[in-house]
Formats: sequence, C-alpha cells, structure tokens
Amino acid sequence: MDHFTTIDGILHAEQVPLPAIAEAVGTPVYVYSQTTLQRHARVFRDALSALDNPLTVFAVKANPNLAVLRVLQGEGFGADVVSGGELRRALAAGMAPDTIIFSGVGKTRAELELGLDTGIAQFNIESREEGRELAQLAAARGEQARAALRINPDVDAGTHEKISTGKAENKFGVPLHQAREVFRELAALDGLALHGLAIHIGSQLATLDPLEAAFEKIGVLLADLRADGHTIGRVDLGGGLGVAYKAGETYPSPAEYGAMVARVTKDWGVQLVFEPGRVIAGNAGVLLTRVIRVKAGLSAPFVIVDAAMNDLARPALYGAWHDFEAVAETSERTTANIVGPICESGDTFATNRDCPALVAGDLAVFRTAGAYGATMASSYNSRGFVPEVLVSGDKFAVVANRIDAGAIMDAERLPDWFA
Ligand code: LLP
Repeated sequence: MDHFTTIDGILHAEQVPLPAIAEAVGTPVYVYSQTTLQRHARVFRDALSALDNPLTVFAVKANPNLAVLRVLQGEGFGADVVSGGELRRALAAGMAPDTIIFSGVGKTRAELELGLDTGIAQFNIESREEGRELAQLAAARGEQARAALRINPDVDAGTHEKISTGKAENKFGVPLHQAREVFRELAALDGLALHGLAIHIGSQLATLDPLEAAFEKIGVLLADLRADGHTIGRVDLGGGLGVAYKAGETYPSPAEYGAMVARVTKDWGVQLVFEPGRVIAGNAGVLLTRVIRVKAGLSAPFVIVDAAMNDLARPALYGAWHDFEAVAETSERTTANIVGPICESGDTFATNRDCPALVAGDLAVFRTAGAYGATMASSYNSRGFVPEVLVSGDKFAVVANRIDAGAIMDAERLPDWFA
C-alpha cells in the first residue's frame, strides 16, 4: 500500500497535489512519500516480530538519498552498504556503525580500511582472497574485523538474469561446496572474528520458494560448521522480496516471508539480519514527468515525455514495466509508445501500452520508482540529474537538487596543451 492517491481528480503524494511539485521544482522529478516509507518499514518489522532480536538493514543501493536514509534510521533500520560512498551516506544519515553491514564482491583496500575505521557491525566477505586481505589489514592495526562469509548456494531465484546473484555461475559469494574449507581457513586468521554466514540470491523475487531452498541449504551448512567447532552467532538472509510493478499483480507479503523465515530458522539459535531494499522503497516513489509532445507513429503514437532512460534506467536495462498514469484523471484511453528524448530506441518506457490519452504539457508519473530509480541515473545526452522531493503530509521539500548539464560540464577541463 502507498500514499499516492487521486483526490478531486488530481494525483497526490500524501496531501500534496503533484502539479504543485511540478510547478515549484520542474520536471522530471522523483517524488517520495515519507509516510509510505515508514509504513513499509513498520510492516517489514512487524513481519519479523516472532524472531529474537533481528537486525534489519536497508539496502542503501535501492535509494541512497540522505533524507530517505534518515526516515529509515528513525524506524530503527541500519544500512547494508556496498561502497565507501554508501558507507559515508549511512553515517551522514545518522546510522550507528554497529548497525552497518558492508557487502559487495569488490571492496577495495581503501573501503576495507574505511569499514575498519568506522567500526561497522560486519563485513560480508565474498571470497577467500577478500577474507585474507581484510584479516591482514585488521591484524596490522591489532584488531579483529567482525565478519560473515557470503555463501553462493547455487539456487535459481527465478528473476531477471541481470539481478540474479545466487547461481553457481554468478560472481557472488563462496560456492557452497567450498564453504567449510574456506570458513576453516579464515576463522583461524588472527585479524578476523568470523562469526556468521550471509546470503543474497537475487532481487525482485516473485515467490518465496527459491529463498526457502537457499535458507534450507544455509541451515545445513550452519550445523556442519558448528560440528566443525565454529561459533556462529549471526546469519544474514539478504534482501530480494519483489513488489508489484503492475496494478493487480500480487507478490509474497512481508508477513508471509516472515512466517517462512521463522519456520525455517527456528532451531538456528542466531541473530538474523535482513537487507530489504525494493520492498521498502519501491512503491514509496514516483517519477513525475511532463509530456513534451505526441508524435504520430506506425501502429501507435509516440508519447514523448521529458523523463528518459538516463533518469529511470530499469525499462531500458531490464525491459522492466512501470505503470504510467496521468496526474489529472481522465477516462479517455489510447494505445501508445511512451518514450524519452534520448537518441536511441532503447529509450522506451513502454511499447503499445494501454494508457491514458495525453497531450503536450500534461503531467504523468511512472509508478514504483522509489527503488533503483534516481540512484541508477546517468547524465547521458548531457541531461543532468533529476531532483528528488520528499513529501510528508501536506509538506514537501527538495531533498536532492537538480544537477544541470552545466554543473557537470564545470567538472571538465581542457588540457593545458590545448592553450
Ligand atoms: N543485499 C544485497 C547483497 C544485494 O545485492 C541487494 C540488491 C539487496 C540486499 C537488496 O535487494 P532487494 O531487497 O532490493 O531486492 N537494479 C536492479 C536491482 C539490483 C539489486 C542488487 N542487489 C533493479 O532495478 O531491479
């Protein structure tokens, strides 16, 4: 459930009419609903209430905006970070270091050092090689890095191949069949306090079955590692819950997920960690855009909007569907191709889509753009970066300025030999 609703024929974010935001900030613009973020955070937390002291960390990559992170920090969430930049954001948003988990297959030496400087809760180590390097860095400081070993369970998450992370051929984690041996080596190193396991098999999962299959495998490994004499106090179950991108679709609810987790892990005797991203932020945001013009096409007209693939990459990158709705309610419908201004045919949000009949100047939104939206933007075609707005009740605030093409150009220089 979200708080984008039509009131008196106009789509609102909470109590704010979207045309007021377009007027004040211009388009395209990302609009987030604080109440929706809070609701999703609470629903997720309530879904885990049967568990003993779980730690929930928001996957910062889904929406790293500082205001969004602050809202989630206020709901008791920590952060799952995958770069030094995300770690700095989590700290800037007020997340306590002992609620920060550092994931990622390619942490640099500088990033490992930053994690040690910060005193984060846990590094999720993705390879034997990374574990050795982290152990060495920590030992040189006379410290022990708190760490978990990420396992690749070889489970097909049944999602888009580009966001599937738990199959044997994927780059993530240590293969299950090597896990005991790698754990044995790394646990013996002075610089590591290896106390846990981690897993994340993919994103936008449509069913719980692959998650359950992966967790079962982790449960077996957990018992094996304990039999080997290791102490395992924490297991990180990652993120991955899918959300509806099309009105009417249904996805497993956080409550169903929580019940499955409680059942599968009931004898584990560990603190569980969760890294949700999309399920918290996805439906809490829209991309507000204006129609530039409508052009005749072969079988359907092209509705050319001022947002493009550089602003919302998911349709171009994964063929993803985002519902497209008019801001001013209309009963007139048509079939159209919804495209951006960028000079490649991939800049298409929807093909032959049944959608509201719009004309130049009309406002519209792409729904479910709160996760993996602004954060994946680029400045392709020298278009600059779209601003972000947070709404709370009848108030709204710009929480990220528009960065126009001029500001990006300002970072460029001609070499002195051109003088
Ligand atoms: N934990 C780890 C280690 C991850 O790699 C991810 C997402 C998450 C948690 C959060 O997963 P979620 O709960 O959001 O599914 N750009 C793609 C999604 C990539 C997800 C990458 N990893 C998209 O737009 O669909």
